[in-house]
Amino acid sequence: MGWSPTLTWLRWGPKMQLHRRILQPPFTRSKVGQYMPLQRREALVCCKGFVDDPSDWVTAARRFALAIVLSISYGLEIDGPSSPWIRLAQESNNAIAKSGAPASSIMDRFPATRYLPAWLPFLERLRYARKWRWAIESITSQPLEASIEEMKRKLDRSCFAHDRLQIYRENAEKGLPNDFDFEDIKGAAATITIAGNDTTAATVMLLVLYLMQNPDAQRKAQEEVDRVVGRDRLPDWDDIPHLDYVHLVLQETYRMNPLSPLGIPHASVADDVYEGMLIPKGTIVYPNVWAMNHDETVYAEPFRFWPERYLPREEGGNGEPFPVGNFGFGRRICIGRNLAENSLLIQLAMMLATVDIDWPPGPDGKPTPFEPEWSFRGQAIVLPFRASITARSEKVKELLDSEIRAAGQTA
Ligand code: HEM
Repeated sequence: MGWSPTLTWLRWGPKMQLHRRILQPPFTRSKVGQYMPLQRREALVCCKGFVDDPSDWVTAARRFALAIVLSISYGLEIDGPSSPWIRLAQESNNAIAKSGAPASSIMDRFPATRYLPAWLPFLERLRYARKWRWAIESITSQPLEASIEEMKRKLDRSCFAHDRLQIYRENAEKGLPNDFDFEDIKGAAATITIAGNDTTAATVMLLVLYLMQNPDAQRKAQEEVDRVVGRDRLPDWDDIPHLDYVHLVLQETYRMNPLSPLGIPHASVADDVYEGMLIPKGTIVYPNVWAMNHDETVYAEPFRFWPERYLPREEGGNGEPFPVGNFGFGRRICIGRNLAENSLLIQLAMMLATVDIDWPPGPDGKPTPFEPEWSFRGQAIVLPFRASITARSEKVKELLDSEIRAAGQTA
């Protein structure tokens, strides 16, 4: 579909290992702290977007997720809800989402089929890939080109692409070997934006959904935020370790709806035996994350949103384990999981501090429950839905405005 070497699509081997080596260092638990000011600022902007235009809260959520990864990858900023980067990211997200479940096309099984003429009747997926190639090429090329242009003017700006290009150029000038080339930098920078944008936005949408559907959990989480933070300021990073219930709300959101219910499939690199069954080399294995997280022998009433389930019994819980697999497993586990968790925690705390979320009004003007719609094309994503989002007080509006001004960010 027009990908540069992009980690998620690379098979196990030297190229894939090189990309993990380039991508992992900035996203370890100790290194993601460098992005905290950016994440909090974007959470402020997102909540201001919720307050200013609740009817378009989904754009604010998408902007939040994209602004973080675009800044980390390319040092680019999103200057408003109509930024062209939001449209570009949405087009590529759509192209990916509609391209079908991973590893399920005839091209995945028999790579040579990608060179066949696309008019052949059984090659819908090949026709689709050729039709949408431009969207993937745009998201992998255009931000990098813009970033390189910006770098010429703002040489002090540090970002993933800039830092790698700098190393690459310095080595080339000194005649030293480079273990990655320009295409690798292009692919790795795009991986951060593509892998980290839709996933984080989709989880923010789930948070809004579950808070709306579960007013008791919302109230309890707000009480905790008010107790720890107070009502005269907005949540900051020092507060996060003290927000125990907020952490449980996030874990329960992960468990209720893993975005990749069947994980990302992987082919076994050698023959293996699991519980007496032979898994021959090359078998495509799907981890059923959905089943693991809804297993009735592990989770009581698995379809109920119940954050307390993880607490020990003596604290009124059920001592159940945190969900597994939402970020994958083993050697291909998600590189951005620490970054994502921080983004979601500060965003959740900020939402709880600033807005009340309720069902939207029905024809009689009263909050009216409804069933949201979902997309199940490879990922399980809730489609945009209406919600009634209102500022908790005039004071939070003032705080949002003044903090955003202080951070020098346009909303
Ligand atoms: C809630 C947010 C996120 C979720 C649920 C999520 C989930 C996943 C999953 C299920 C995988 C596949 C793991 C496997 O193959 O077993 C993955 C891979 C990956 N994710 Fe995330 N992710 C999220 C956010 C992010 C962010 C913010 C980044 C940005 C750095 C990121 C970067 C990656 C990369 C680079 C891979 C490919 C790893 C590989 O193939 O070796 N993800 N993610």
